[in-house]
Amino acid sequence: MTKEMELPGLESAHRPATEAAHAGEIASRDLGTSVAQPIYQTTVHAFKSLQELDRVQTNPEEGWFYYRNASPNRTAFETTMARLEGAEAAVAAGSGMGAIFIALSAVLKSGDHIIADEKIYGGTFALLTQQLPKFGIETTLVNTADELAVRTAVRPTTRVLYFETLTNPTLQVSDIPALVELARELNLYSFVDATFSTPVVCRPVLWGADIVMHASTKYIGGHSDAFGGIVAGRADIVKAADLAGRFMGVTQGAFDAWLNVRSLKTLPLRMTAHSQNAQKVAEWLEKQPAVQNVLYPGLPSHPQHELAKKLMPDGLYGGMLAFELAAGPKALDAFIGALKVVQLVPSLADVTTTLSHPGLTSHRAMSPAQRANIGVRDELLRLSVGIEDMADILDDFDQAFRQL
Ligand SMILES: Cc1ncc(COP(=O)(O)O)c(C=O)c1O
Repeated sequence: MTKEMELPGLESAHRPATEAAHAGEIASRDLGTSVAQPIYQTTVHAFKSLQELDRVQTNPEEGWFYYRNASPNRTAFETTMARLEGAEAAVAAGSGMGAIFIALSAVLKSGDHIIADEKIYGGTFALLTQQLPKFGIETTLVNTADELAVRTAVRPTTRVLYFETLTNPTLQVSDIPALVELARELNLYSFVDATFSTPVVCRPVLWGADIVMHASTKYIGGHSDAFGGIVAGRADIVKAADLAGRFMGVTQGAFDAWLNVRSLKTLPLRMTAHSQNAQKVAEWLEKQPAVQNVLYPGLPSHPQHELAKKLMPDGLYGGMLAFELAAGPKALDAFIGALKVVQLVPSLADVTTTLSHPGLTSHRAMSPAQRANIGVRDELLRLSVGIEDMADILDDFDQAFRQL
């Protein structure tokens, strides 16, 4: 290769194999400050000396060395999330389940015990009741709204009180300040999954929770194109979760972290639209003869509406709601098949309005009796209200109800 064809990163021409392997190296070029963070899709960084490598490994805030441990895009996501939550620190994981797992791993060891709300997401239910027992960690599920039930479940080995801001899919509102106070009195860590609410709607750390977790796959990502999870809260717990994540290998990839950061920029706008639209849809559904029951914390008919108003003071209650068809489970397929705009999607929090059936998807790991016990009946549908024009969504529901 001639001197004129030299790539900017290398100081002189090298043989093709060397030039190809070093393609795109522009380390010496001053790029100025880019508005959007570049994607650092590199598994490792190079160092000029052992001393420099040792310094970065000893002081992670001074740089990055290996992708599984930390990467610039992940750090950007974590730093922003800690600020949004008002938390001391945050660490990302490759999925929401990964975040929950490393958060629990930070404070638990074999022989320990968790008290968790019985209405939690089905994946978390499976982790707590089917996976963690293999490592000697047991869970008792209770209705955390019942203080006596929590007190009765406590064992000398109990370490964590685990609940969701808004339960998936039944939209029960957890009384965060009361549960945090109870956890403190019982010497337990309070862990809150706030996937349904996001820091725009409710910030559990500001109510005193030790740890808040999110599946950033959902609202934080918001476009059904990125996977991730976040653990934010007390610096000592986050540090231990980070360490657990490094050795369990639940790293979030650079592109997913980058997408999560990109999406955080519009999170407040999206959550406002999701919440205002969900309020409209919930009020409309409540008036439909084809609908048996609507669960949405923004409705005055919701049993914890007053609590929701206290914990979500901006009048935004998120985009998730649940409802039951009056015609029962046999009408579900006809209803879903008749919808033209709203799609059946086994996830949530997209910018489009999507419908899911918790019994067959998110809560599949539970037995029918366990599902019935927490109100996940076969006729229950979970609706993730998007940011579209709701007139089109209501028209779609209206024509589908007429066909039942
Ligand atoms: C409340 C809640 N927590 C955690 C998760 C798990 O997230 P992920 O699918 O990214 O692992 C989900 C997934 O739906 C969820 O709804």
